[in-house]
Amino acid sequence: MSGINYSEKIPNNVNLSEDRTLQRALEQWQPNFINWWDDMGPEGSTDMDVYLRTAVSVDPQGWAQFGHVKMRDYRWGVFLNPGEQDRKIHFGDHIGEKAWQDVPGEHRANLRRIIVTQGDTEPASVEQQRHLGLTAPSMYDLRNLFQINVEEGRHLWAMVYLLHKYFGKDGREEADALLQRNSGNEDNPRILQAFNEKTPDWLSFFMFTYFTDRDGKFQLCALAESAFDPLARTTKFMLTEEAHHMFVGESGVSRTIQRTVDVMNQLKTDDVAKLRAAGVIDLPTIQRYINFHFSVTIDLFGADQSSNAATFYSSGLKGRYEEGKRTDDHVLKGNSYKILSVEDGKLVEKEVPMLNALNEVLRDDYITDSKGGIDRWNRVISKAGIPFTLTAPHKAFHRNIGSLAGAKVTPDGRVVSNEEWMAKVGEWLPTNEDRAYVASLMGRCVEPGKFANWIAPPVMGINRQPVDFDYVRFN
Ligand SMILES: [Fe+2]
Ligand SMILES: [Fe+2]
Repeated sequence: MSGINYSEKIPNNVNLSEDRTLQRALEQWQPNFINWWDDMGPEGSTDMDVYLRTAVSVDPQGWAQFGHVKMRDYRWGVFLNPGEQDRKIHFGDHIGEKAWQDVPGEHRANLRRIIVTQGDTEPASVEQQRHLGLTAPSMYDLRNLFQINVEEGRHLWAMVYLLHKYFGKDGREEADALLQRNSGNEDNPRILQAFNEKTPDWLSFFMFTYFTDRDGKFQLCALAESAFDPLARTTKFMLTEEAHHMFVGESGVSRTIQRTVDVMNQLKTDDVAKLRAAGVIDLPTIQRYINFHFSVTIDLFGADQSSNAATFYSSGLKGRYEEGKRTDDHVLKGNSYKILSVEDGKLVEKEVPMLNALNEVLRDDYITDSKGGIDRWNRVISKAGIPFTLTAPHKAFHRNIGSLAGAKVTPDGRVVSNEEWMAKVGEWLPTNEDRAYVASLMGRCVEPGKFANWIAPPVMGINRQPVDFDYVRFN
């Protein structure tokens, strides 16, 4: 089951050849996917041979094979984690019943919506990142960008397989629509707003892969608990790929900080103008980028009170993060949870039924997890002996969804007037000037072993290759 069959047109470990109708439908979708990749995938990359990993098996050991390949020849396919025998539903109203191998009629519309929403983010991020290759700070970074891009393409395949196999004609139409919407397109945009924003520079890219791919991790973890077993199994395998994306983000920001603090120590200054003249990204700007990406990403978890979230949980469609490790009754009727809102100019906590607050529960788990990386970034700064601490902004800062939408709250959690907000927002969120400065640093630097001035080299190469390995051959 775990071995992947690469002899077929569509590599898979789901015995695709036994279901000829499905196989044919996916083989018809495949050229549309390649057309989408040619049009919307990484710009100018067609002739490049890229040192990519490809899944050879879904076992933790035999995961990947590395080699130089052209991206459009990447073996995108359908890979599910092996099924657990007699898996039982372990939360919600159906707790203790057998997990579903097919979609129950009454949950069809909701499950389709969940799968389409997840699926839509995957190609969206490829579209958002398509110009970044032109300004890569190194060949190593260029390769990592491309690895992420092909894997997001595979995540699209993962969701399209479910749509084709389990949702009939509607599923096939949804699969087609996933290639028709485009990030930032006025007439036919991607479903979630964060996936219509631009990823204009590499600092944004690293922040996106640290913060926003981590949203993906939490959504996938919640779906990996699903009573709909094929969804649980496919998201489990997606999670193993996702880990690398967050590594690229965390290490990318870390290397940016490393270079900045090295120059701060060389020049013995924390003066922003001097550091900018020296071509590195000052720490206050990095803090503003964190504030932006953190706040935009936590909005992705949805409204803090949501009857949909309660329905998804109680009917077994979507669990909590690490549902299996929790010790409550996994039904949650009668439990409560605290959410925040602004009343009379103050932040107040309110107890609400936990079932309705499950978006908030997932958001809070995400916040705890994402703070870990910020702590590790601070170690780079303190090791250099520099008295500066990066922080995650307050949960209520710069929110656009739920009870906190539009509230004027500072990064340290103070409710302020509109005037104060307007006067200080340039200290809290990246300004046009910050963005223009970061953009001015973005130049292509792709000779093996060379790195742009604003970023430090990584500690190690990919797959134990040296840092100056030829990760991308331009031909
Ligand atoms: Fe993904
Ligand atoms: Fe990802």
